[in-house]
Amino acid sequence: MDRFRIRGGKPLRGEVRVARAKNAVLPLLAAALLSEDTCVIEDVPFLDDVVTMLKLLESIGVSVEMKGRTIKISAAGRLNPEAPYDIVRKMRASYYVLGPLLARFGDCRVSLPGGCAIGPRPVDLHLKGITALGARVKIEKGYIHARARSLRGNTMMLEGQKGPSVGATINTMMAAVLARGETVIEGAACEPEVVDVAQFLSKMGADITGAGTPTITIRGVKELRGARHKPIPDRIEAGTFAAAAAITRGRVEIIGCEPRHLTAVITKLQESGVRVEAGVDRLLVEARGRPQAVKISTAPYPGFPTDLQAQFTALLSIAQGTSTVTENIFESRFLHCLELNRMGALIDITGNMAVIHGVERLEGAQVMASDLRASAALVLAGLAARGQTEILRIYHLDRGYERLENKLKPLGADIRRVSS
Ligand code: EPZ
Repeated sequence: MDRFRIRGGKPLRGEVRVARAKNAVLPLLAAALLSEDTCVIEDVPFLDDVVTMLKLLESIGVSVEMKGRTIKISAAGRLNPEAPYDIVRKMRASYYVLGPLLARFGDCRVSLPGGCAIGPRPVDLHLKGITALGARVKIEKGYIHARARSLRGNTMMLEGQKGPSVGATINTMMAAVLARGETVIEGAACEPEVVDVAQFLSKMGADITGAGTPTITIRGVKELRGARHKPIPDRIEAGTFAAAAAITRGRVEIIGCEPRHLTAVITKLQESGVRVEAGVDRLLVEARGRPQAVKISTAPYPGFPTDLQAQFTALLSIAQGTSTVTENIFESRFLHCLELNRMGALIDITGNMAVIHGVERLEGAQVMASDLRASAALVLAGLAARGQTEILRIYHLDRGYERLENKLKPLGADIRRVSS
């Protein structure tokens, strides 16, 4: 298992390019199941989660060809419409094959995902979506077994108690594109990744309007053709670099990003006294001293993303004053706080709120990554801390950041991957 060794205290300076969004790439790869023609996804980041999704597609019988960062997917011929537990337990986003497999074959089995380090992750809204389209769903021996002779369009409310669901919105949209008649998804998630998938499906011949708003309308078509697509830039990776610049009191230009997807994040940085200048596809982030304490509350898009909560908690651990971070999407997503406290942070957790009493500086320590974004938070803390930080279990990080150390080193970070 690899670990990171970081010698902190060096301000990051320079330019860094963001990758395409993991959370768009994963459903885009699954959407290719909807056509017998070849689909091409370009500029795909080398991530463990992408490898897992490709393994899943291959286990279904899809032909996958990868040349550099371009992936060709051909879902022709006889396929085995099943997502086995062995793959789903490694990556929850495997559930993205549910909608496409059901739409294309009318019968599929997808393992239930099981536990997760960031808290309960139910799938009831995914099932509500496909059931509304006429699927019969049974839970058998840990698997979702969904069947439908033909899917029929319907109007449904997909918002749950915690708000809209990105996964359920995308899954239902992918199932509805081949259904008979019109589907209206009310309470749809508005995340940019939903819009990106809708754009790809439209290139394939789907008829979708309203993606990016709470009401998505889909008029079913008979079949979809192949298409080529470049996913949107990764807003979470961009936000991670912004926090890295701020926590190290550096000056970083983040290029190839979409600042308009980061409005809530930019607002919080500016509120905390960090200088941010946004261009069309770049962000300049500069911090001269400690940030000011702020209040953050995670919310569905366009609110502050839960996927940047851990990184901003790390940043606020060295703020002047007391900050609060309220996690409204995944209420127990706070394991990173216990590790940050081992580095000298003063964070109290009460329910779904972290109260962060800012300290002058963090101290390097040995810490353990618990999930993807928690790992990123520990890297940021290590970059800012005095002395050496060692982060164990960074395989979590490799799921969603492509060789993060190789992007941080040119910015002046002293970070090393140690394999054991
Ligand atoms: C996506 O997960 C992302 N994953 C997550 O990113 C991200 O944190 C999350 O959206 C929220 O933005 C991918 O895109 C692969 P949800 P998803 O369904 O779709 C509840 C990362 O670090 N809910 O939008 O699974 C749920 O419990 C990852 O990159 C139900 O109640 O999230 C949560 O409270 C982690 N029933 C809320 O909705 C359901 O059937 C939003 O979850 C589904 C969800």
